[in-house]
Amino acid sequence: MKGIVFTGFLDMVEKKFGIEIVDHIITESKLQSEGVYTSVGTYDFVEMQSLLVSLSKKVAIPLDDLIYNYGLYFFDTLVNIHPGIFALYKDPIELLSSIENHIHVQVRKLYPGAELPTFKIIKKHEDELEILYFSERAMYMFAKALMEKTFEHYDQDSQIQLEKIENNGTKVRFLISKKNGAYQK
Ligand code: HEM
Repeated sequence: MKGIVFTGFLDMVEKKFGIEIVDHIITESKLQSEGVYTSVGTYDFVEMQSLLVSLSKKVAIPLDDLIYNYGLYFFDTLVNIHPGIFALYKDPIELLSSIENHIHVQVRKLYPGAELPTFKIIKKHEDELEILYFSERAMYMFAKALMEKTFEHYDQDSQIQLEKIENNGTKVRFLISKKNGAYQK
């Protein structure tokens, strides 16, 4: 996992919970890197898992909620660092359906060693998108947050439902729609 994901995560923890909590989770997690991350480095995903588990215990917030909130926070970092990628798209459904074949392809060139999910488009219409998420890291709540923020970025409301196909979250179906779309309940 890229250093930028770790540095962003620790920044968020510091802003929301304070520097003492950052110190606590780094000590508690017994990290190989000792919690020293550079944005261009690459680190073991196990370290992120340990940090998240320590934080979840310390602040008594479920893991899924922490990862989701981290996704909301990380989206702003992505927009700040890569405004050009977002400028290429005029519509959230167009952007989300291009992650696999365009956005993360560019990401692989910019961030060698990035560990990215796979997205498979099942159905695509003007107002709806059904996609499958595959990743050993099971960061589906991170994905959900990035999807919601993508709609917000284009000033649009969204309705995003997810259904785990594998219980451990390594394969998840997303039903995404603009408000009033067919998937809305
Ligand atoms: C992970 C870049 C848009 C879904 C990542 C990582 C980077 C990245 C650097 C971390 C890779 C690693 O740590 O090894 C970008 C950039 C984007 C973008 C530059 C747009 C300009 C999106 C969007 C989604 C998304 C819109 C929405 C679904 C994910 C997920 C992960 C991820 C779920 C976590 C890894 C996993 O699940 O296996 N992305 N991303 N990305 N990205 Fe993107």
